Amino acid sequence: MELDIEGGERLQKVLAQAGVASRRHAEKMILDGRVTVNGETVLALGTKVRVQDHIEVDKRPIKRTEDLYYYLLNKSVGVITSASDPRGRPTVVDLLKDVPVRVYPVGRLDYDTAGLLVLTNDGELAHRLMHPSFGIEKTYRVWVQGPVGINALETLRQGVLLEDGKTAPAIVQRVSGISKRTKEGAKVDPLEILEVTIHEGRNRQVRRMFEAIGYLVVKLERIGFGLLKQKSTLRPGAYRPLTEEEVKELRSNVGL
Ligand code: URA
Repeated sequence: MELDIEGGERLQKVLAQAGVASRRHAEKMILDGRVTVNGETVLALGTKVRVQDHIEVDKRPIKRTEDLYYYLLNKSVGVITSASDPRGRPTVVDLLKDVPVRVYPVGRLDYDTAGLLVLTNDGELAHRLMHPSFGIEKTYRVWVQGPVGINALETLRQGVLLEDGKTAPAIVQRVSGISKRTKEGAKVDPLEILEVTIHEGRNRQVRRMFEAIGYLVVKLERIGFGLLKQKSTLRPGAYRPLTEEEVKELRSNVGL
Protein backbone atom coordinates (compact mmCIF):
# COMPACT_ATOMS: atom_id res chain seq x y z
CA MET A 1 0.00 0.00 0.00
CA GLU A 2 1.27 3.50 -0.72
CA LEU A 3 -0.23 6.50 1.00
CA ASP A 4 0.75 9.73 -0.65
CA ILE A 5 -0.70 12.54 1.36
CA GLU A 6 0.14 16.12 0.68
CA GLY A 7 1.30 18.16 3.59
CA GLY A 8 1.89 15.20 5.90
CA GLU A 9 5.10 14.10 7.56
CA ARG A 10 7.29 11.23 6.39
CA LEU A 11 6.44 8.09 8.31
CA GLN A 12 10.02 7.36 9.42
CA LYS A 13 10.33 10.92 10.76
CA VAL A 14 7.09 10.55 12.75
CA LEU A 15 8.29 7.23 14.18
CA ALA A 16 11.60 8.79 15.18
CA GLN A 17 9.91 11.83 16.76
CA ALA A 18 7.65 9.53 18.74
CA GLY A 19 10.74 7.90 20.20
CA VAL A 20 10.09 4.52 18.57
CA ALA A 21 13.57 4.26 17.02
CA SER A 22 16.21 6.28 15.21
CA ARG A 23 15.17 7.36 11.74
CA ARG A 24 17.46 4.74 10.15
CA HIS A 25 16.06 1.96 12.35
CA ALA A 26 12.50 3.19 11.72
CA GLU A 27 13.13 2.80 7.98
CA LYS A 28 14.17 -0.81 8.57
CA MET A 29 11.01 -1.41 10.63
CA ILE A 30 8.91 -0.10 7.75
CA LEU A 31 10.73 -2.28 5.20
CA ASP A 32 10.30 -5.29 7.51
CA GLY A 33 6.51 -4.80 7.38
CA ARG A 34 6.15 -4.00 11.08
CA VAL A 35 4.38 -0.66 10.62
CA THR A 36 0.72 -0.09 9.78
CA VAL A 37 -1.13 3.14 8.99
CA ASN A 38 -4.87 3.02 9.54
CA GLY A 39 -4.67 -0.78 9.72
CA GLU A 40 -2.71 -1.29 6.52
CA THR A 41 0.93 -2.32 6.32
CA VAL A 42 3.08 0.37 4.73
CA LEU A 43 6.29 -0.63 2.96
CA ALA A 44 7.14 2.55 1.05
CA LEU A 45 9.70 4.73 2.80
CA GLY A 46 8.50 8.06 1.41
CA THR A 47 4.97 7.57 2.75
CA LYS A 48 3.50 10.69 4.30
CA VAL A 49 1.09 10.56 7.21
CA ARG A 50 -1.31 13.12 8.61
CA VAL A 51 -2.08 14.04 12.19
CA GLN A 52 -5.28 12.00 12.21
CA ASP A 53 -3.68 8.81 10.87
CA HIS A 54 -3.45 5.91 13.27
CA ILE A 55 0.00 4.35 13.28
CA GLU A 56 0.97 1.05 14.86
CA VAL A 57 4.30 -0.70 15.22
CA ASP A 58 4.13 -4.43 15.92
CA LYS A 59 0.37 -3.94 16.44
CA ARG A 60 0.91 -1.32 19.18
CA PRO A 61 -0.26 2.28 18.61
CA ILE A 62 2.54 4.84 18.76
CA LYS A 63 2.22 8.01 20.78
CA ARG A 64 2.83 10.91 18.44
CA THR A 65 4.01 14.14 19.97
CA GLU A 66 3.40 16.38 17.00
CA ASP A 67 -0.32 15.71 17.05
CA LEU A 68 -0.80 17.20 20.51
CA TYR A 69 -2.15 20.73 20.40
CA TYR A 70 -2.31 23.29 23.19
CA TYR A 71 -3.98 26.67 23.14
CA LEU A 72 -4.60 29.49 25.57
CA LEU A 73 -7.89 31.29 25.01
CA ASN A 74 -9.03 34.52 26.60
CA LYS A 75 -12.68 33.54 26.92
CA SER A 76 -15.19 36.34 26.62
CA VAL A 77 -18.43 36.59 28.57
CA GLY A 78 -21.41 35.01 26.77
CA VAL A 79 -19.59 31.92 25.53
CA ILE A 80 -20.08 28.48 27.03
CA THR A 81 -17.23 26.20 28.05
CA SER A 82 -18.23 23.10 26.19
CA ALA A 83 -17.54 21.48 22.84
CA SER A 84 -21.19 21.88 21.77
CA ASP A 85 -24.39 23.42 23.11
CA PRO A 86 -27.87 21.99 22.51
CA ARG A 87 -29.24 25.56 22.86
CA GLY A 88 -26.99 26.78 20.06
CA ARG A 89 -25.04 29.29 22.12
CA PRO A 90 -21.47 30.04 21.02
CA THR A 91 -18.92 27.71 22.56
CA VAL A 92 -15.24 28.14 23.34
CA VAL A 93 -14.48 25.61 20.59
CA ASP A 94 -16.31 27.87 18.08
CA LEU A 95 -13.81 30.63 18.93
CA LEU A 96 -10.88 28.51 17.78
CA LYS A 97 -10.49 28.81 14.03
CA ASP A 98 -7.85 26.99 11.96
CA VAL A 99 -7.23 24.39 14.64
CA PRO A 100 -6.51 21.12 12.81
CA VAL A 101 -7.80 18.73 15.48
CA ARG A 102 -10.56 18.57 18.04
CA VAL A 103 -9.43 20.15 21.29
CA TYR A 104 -11.26 20.25 24.59
CA PRO A 105 -11.43 22.82 27.37
CA VAL A 106 -9.46 22.06 30.53
CA GLY A 107 -12.01 22.64 33.27
CA ARG A 108 -14.68 25.27 32.83
CA LEU A 109 -15.47 28.92 33.20
CA ASP A 110 -19.08 30.04 33.65
CA TYR A 111 -21.00 31.59 30.77
CA ASP A 112 -20.69 34.95 32.53
CA THR A 113 -17.01 34.58 33.50
CA ALA A 114 -14.19 35.78 31.25
CA GLY A 115 -10.52 34.90 31.18
CA LEU A 116 -7.89 32.28 30.63
CA LEU A 117 -8.81 28.81 29.48
CA VAL A 118 -6.49 26.09 28.17
CA LEU A 119 -7.76 23.87 25.36
CA THR A 120 -5.93 20.74 24.27
CA ASN A 121 -6.27 17.24 22.91
CA ASP A 122 -3.68 16.00 25.41
CA GLY A 123 -6.08 13.99 27.55
CA GLU A 124 -3.60 13.00 30.20
CA LEU A 125 -2.45 16.56 30.80
CA ALA A 126 -6.05 17.84 30.87
CA HIS A 127 -7.05 15.20 33.38
CA ARG A 128 -4.16 16.04 35.69
CA LEU A 129 -4.59 19.81 35.42
CA MET A 130 -8.21 19.41 36.52
CA HIS A 131 -7.50 16.98 39.32
CA PRO A 132 -7.49 18.71 42.73
CA SER A 133 -4.60 16.55 43.95
CA PHE A 134 -2.22 18.47 41.66
CA GLY A 135 -3.42 21.77 43.13
CA ILE A 136 -3.04 23.94 40.04
CA GLU A 137 -3.52 27.57 41.14
CA LYS A 138 -6.20 29.63 39.49
CA THR A 139 -6.28 33.37 40.07
CA TYR A 140 -9.43 35.44 39.58
CA ARG A 141 -10.01 39.14 39.48
CA VAL A 142 -13.30 39.72 41.25
CA TRP A 143 -15.46 42.84 41.10
CA VAL A 144 -17.66 42.90 44.19
CA GLN A 145 -20.29 45.24 45.49
CA GLY A 146 -18.47 46.51 48.58
CA PRO A 147 -17.44 47.62 51.02
CA VAL A 148 -15.62 44.38 51.83
CA GLY A 149 -14.38 44.44 55.41
CA ILE A 150 -11.24 42.92 56.88
CA ASN A 151 -13.26 40.13 58.51
CA ALA A 152 -14.75 39.10 55.17
CA LEU A 153 -11.28 38.94 53.62
CA GLU A 154 -10.08 36.81 56.51
CA THR A 155 -13.03 34.40 56.17
CA LEU A 156 -12.34 34.01 52.45
CA ARG A 157 -8.68 33.31 53.22
CA GLN A 158 -9.44 30.67 55.80
CA GLY A 159 -12.23 28.89 53.95
CA VAL A 160 -15.96 29.40 53.51
CA LEU A 161 -18.58 26.81 54.28
CA LEU A 162 -20.49 25.96 51.09
CA GLU A 163 -23.16 23.30 50.42
CA ASP A 164 -20.43 20.95 49.19
CA GLY A 165 -18.11 21.55 52.15
CA LYS A 166 -15.63 24.11 53.36
CA THR A 167 -13.34 25.66 50.77
CA ALA A 168 -9.58 25.27 51.13
CA PRO A 169 -7.56 28.32 52.21
CA ALA A 170 -7.33 30.97 49.49
CA ILE A 171 -5.01 33.87 48.80
CA VAL A 172 -7.07 37.06 48.78
CA GLN A 173 -5.77 40.53 47.99
CA ARG A 174 -7.52 43.84 47.67
CA VAL A 175 -6.61 45.54 44.40
CA SER A 176 -8.71 48.68 44.60
CA GLY A 177 -11.97 50.13 45.78
CA ILE A 178 -13.94 52.56 43.67
CA SER A 179 -15.90 54.81 45.96
CA LYS A 180 -18.86 56.53 44.35
CA ARG A 181 -21.24 59.33 45.26
CA THR A 182 -24.61 60.23 43.84
CA LYS A 183 -25.14 63.62 42.17
CA GLU A 184 -26.39 64.88 45.48
CA GLY A 185 -23.14 63.78 47.12
CA ALA A 186 -24.47 60.82 49.06
CA LYS A 187 -22.05 57.89 49.40
CA VAL A 188 -22.79 54.78 47.30
CA ASP A 189 -21.39 51.35 48.21
CA PRO A 190 -18.08 51.07 46.39
CA LEU A 191 -17.27 48.52 43.73
CA GLU A 192 -14.20 46.72 45.01
CA ILE A 193 -11.69 44.78 42.98
CA LEU A 194 -10.05 41.79 44.63
CA GLU A 195 -7.74 39.02 43.48
CA VAL A 196 -8.46 35.53 44.70
CA THR A 197 -6.25 32.49 44.15
CA ILE A 198 -7.68 29.02 44.73
CA HIS A 199 -6.51 25.56 43.79
CA GLU A 200 -9.83 23.77 43.89
CA GLY A 201 -12.14 23.83 40.90
CA ARG A 202 -15.67 23.52 42.22
CA ASN A 203 -18.65 24.67 40.23
CA ARG A 204 -19.09 28.50 40.44
CA GLN A 205 -16.74 28.39 43.39
CA VAL A 206 -15.64 32.03 43.55
CA ARG A 207 -19.16 33.41 43.13
CA ARG A 208 -20.48 31.02 45.78
CA MET A 209 -17.69 31.92 48.21
CA PHE A 210 -18.67 35.57 48.05
CA GLU A 211 -22.41 34.84 48.11
CA ALA A 212 -21.93 32.70 51.23
CA ILE A 213 -20.57 35.70 53.13
CA GLY A 214 -23.14 38.11 51.74
CA TYR A 215 -21.46 39.74 48.75
CA LEU A 216 -22.50 39.91 45.13
CA VAL A 217 -19.89 39.30 42.43
CA VAL A 218 -20.69 41.62 39.56
CA LYS A 219 -17.83 40.63 37.28
CA LEU A 220 -15.34 37.77 37.29
CA GLU A 221 -12.26 37.14 35.21
CA ARG A 222 -9.62 34.43 35.44
CA ILE A 223 -6.20 36.06 35.13
CA GLY A 224 -3.96 33.14 36.04
CA PHE A 225 -3.95 29.42 35.39
CA GLY A 226 -0.83 27.77 36.82
CA LEU A 227 2.15 29.41 35.20
CA LEU A 228 -0.03 31.05 32.54
CA LYS A 229 -0.88 34.65 33.30
CA GLN A 230 -3.12 37.16 31.60
CA LYS A 231 -1.21 39.20 29.09
CA SER A 232 -2.63 42.34 27.57
CA THR A 233 -1.89 41.03 24.07
CA LEU A 234 -4.67 38.44 24.24
CA ARG A 235 -7.84 40.44 23.68
CA PRO A 236 -11.23 38.92 24.70
CA GLY A 237 -12.09 36.03 22.38
CA ALA A 238 -8.50 35.72 21.11
CA TYR A 239 -6.25 32.70 21.53
CA ARG A 240 -2.71 31.60 20.87
CA PRO A 241 -0.84 28.30 20.85
CA LEU A 242 1.13 27.61 24.01
CA THR A 243 4.88 27.78 23.52
CA GLU A 244 6.94 24.61 23.79
CA GLU A 245 8.37 25.92 27.04
CA GLU A 246 4.90 26.52 28.51
CA VAL A 247 3.77 23.02 27.55
CA LYS A 248 6.90 21.49 29.05
CA GLU A 249 6.44 23.41 32.28
CA LEU A 250 2.71 22.69 32.55
CA ARG A 251 3.37 19.00 31.99
CA SER A 252 6.20 18.87 34.50
CA ASN A 253 4.03 20.67 37.10
CA VAL A 254 1.69 17.67 37.03
CA GLY A 255 4.35 14.96 36.92
CA LEU A 256 4.46 14.36 33.15
N1 URA B 1 -15.54 30.48 39.99
C1 URA B 1 -16.73 30.90 39.54
O1 URA B 1 -17.59 31.28 40.32
N2 URA B 1 -16.94 30.90 38.23
C2 URA B 1 -16.02 30.51 37.32
O2 URA B 1 -16.26 30.53 36.11
C3 URA B 1 -14.78 30.07 37.81
C4 URA B 1 -14.56 30.07 39.16
